[in-house]
Order: sequence, then structure tokens, then C-alpha cells
Amino acid sequence: MRVVSGIQPTGNLHLGNYLGAIRNWVRMQDEMEEGSECLFFLADLHAISMPHNPAELRKATLEMAAALVACGIDPDRSVLFNQAQVPAHAELQWLLNGTARMGWLNRMTQWKDKAGKNREGQSVALFAYPVLQAADVLLYQATHVPVGDDQKQHLELARDIAQKFNNDFASDDDPVFTLPDPFIPPQAARIMSLRDGSAKMSKSDPSDMSRINLVDDADTIMKKVKKAKTDPEPLPSEEAGLEGRPEALNLVTIFAALTDSTVEDVLRDFGGEGFGKFKSALGEVLAEKLSPISARFNELLKDREAIDAVLAKGAAKARERGLPTLKRTYEALGLLRH
Ligand code: TRP
Repeated sequence: MRVVSGIQPTGNLHLGNYLGAIRNWVRMQDEMEEGSECLFFLADLHAISMPHNPAELRKATLEMAAALVACGIDPDRSVLFNQAQVPAHAELQWLLNGTARMGWLNRMTQWKDKAGKNREGQSVALFAYPVLQAADVLLYQATHVPVGDDQKQHLELARDIAQKFNNDFASDDDPVFTLPDPFIPPQAARIMSLRDGSAKMSKSDPSDMSRINLVDDADTIMKKVKKAKTDPEPLPSEEAGLEGRPEALNLVTIFAALTDSTVEDVLRDFGGEGFGKFKSALGEVLAEKLSPISARFNELLKDREAIDAVLAKGAAKARERGLPTLKRTYEALGLLRH
């Protein structure tokens, strides 16, 4: 098994990032067997496909690296790096640009959503974004790619590119690329805003009360939970009773995710209780689970050298892992290179 996944560097990491993506990476890492490996990277090259501020990108990349380590990605067991330090990603993308078709990219829903009515004004990078994503995984012969539902289409495109490249430039019994399988983690919880149960928890929400940040201390967490929007009804004893109550559902989902239980389990314990009691319990669980993470995170943020060292070591390993496939791709295409 070779697991490869990327995440765009964003600042202001919050509970939604942790329970939605990062924690699943940590689990996959912890469940890896001998001979298998996880590669996790910060997709900083992808970040330049939209208008961006260089100083903010640099800061977000360092912050995200620190957060991943604080959340449990172990740089000694997993390969943790940022794309920009592994030139093979950009190289392989260019090589795959000869195989990817305009028509395929035109069908990508993320491209359509992000470009909207102004396709002519978008960067070429935004259009070619999925080809870089294909290079990210094909470079390492990934077998499993954990992603959110919204990235499934990009993974299918990576398979199409791999398949066409193999057909065009390799023999059937010796393909250049492995076709990667998207892996949508079953426990990827969708965490919503504490102020509005119909909006995703987001770093760009103007109200800081809408989210639990990974840097929040126990008092702040408790305050935010106590102020979280709810409704006047007590908690139901069954899941069906949460229908039409998105804020209540969100808090119960968070509790379940943090305690490795299900919504049903939580309702069995708290059904019939008012929110006062439930919120205290939730605040305590959150503080207990997040405080080691935020302590480690805050400590790492102050140690730029340590983060640089982690990324440099990861990049060196990634360059080594990617080299054979990169070489074979050049060769298969008839490109001379010594
Ligand atoms: N596009 C992904 C996202 O926005 C991030 C990403 C980049 C990625 N390259 C990848 C995910 C390769 C999985 C594999 O979430």
C-alpha cells in the first residue's frame, strides 16, 4: 500500500480541518503495515493557481506543517513535505500535459465553480490544476489516495491520465503508472459553524465564535461552546429527532467524532438532557482532546528551524521515492536526459 495525499496550506486551522481531513491521515499512518508508507504533502504549488499573497502563503505553509505534526503526523514514519521542494511534481505535470485532454479538464466541476463566468480571466494553472494533482499521486505509484468527496473527480482524472499514458507509451505488462484508488474515509466528519448549522466551519467566517481554532486554549473553547447556537428543545434520544436541528446535530457530531463513538451512542447518553449539561461535557471533551495538540502546535510555531528541518527531511525522502517514476516517464516519452 502506498498512501499519498495533499492539502492546500491555509492559515487559521480549526476543528473542521482536524476532524475532516487531518485526523484521518493520522489514522492511516497509524494503521500502516510493514512495507507500506504514507506520503503527505502541503500543496503549495496548487495554491498559486488563484491570486495569492506570497507572505501569507509562506506563513500558511509553515503553519500547516506545524499543525500536521502537532496533530500526530510523525515525520519519522510518514513522508511529510511541501511540493515546492520536490521539483519532480512540476516536472511530471509538464510531462503529463501531453496526455491530459482539454475536454477532460473542461468537465471538472471545481474548474467550472472557481472560474464561474470568467474563464478567460483565469490562470492557466487553475485550469491545469488537476494535472498537477495527477502528477502528485502518479509520481509515487500511489495505490490509495484519501480525499474528501469534492476531490473524487480529480482522482478519476488522474486514473484517466495514467491509463492513457500507459496505453500510449508503455506495454501492457509493464505500465509506467499505477492507477490510484480514491479513498473516502468513512469517519470524515463534516463540521459546521457554531453560529449557523447550515454553513461549514470556516477560517473565513468573520466571527471567531463560529469556530474552534487549533490555537484556542481551554477557556476559549468552553466559552465558544457555551455560546454556540442551539434550539430550546432538549436533546432527543434517537438520531431521527435531530432532523431539522442542524446546530444540535453539529454539536452531537463533534462529540461523537472526538470520543470515537456514533451520534446514536451520544444520544443514548444525553437524550432528554438540556444543552446546558451537554455543552459542559462537550467543552470538556474538546479541551481535553485539543489541548495537547494546541500546546504542541504553539510550541512548534515558535521554532521555525524545527519546521524547516522536518520539511527538508521529508522533501529529501520524497525526491528519492519519486525519482524512478520520473526517469521512466522521460524515457517512455523519448526525451533524452542524462
Ligand atoms: N486538491 C486537493 C484539495 O484541494 C489537494 C491536493 C493536491 C491533493 N494534490 C493532491 C489531494 C493529491 C490528494 C492527492 O483538497
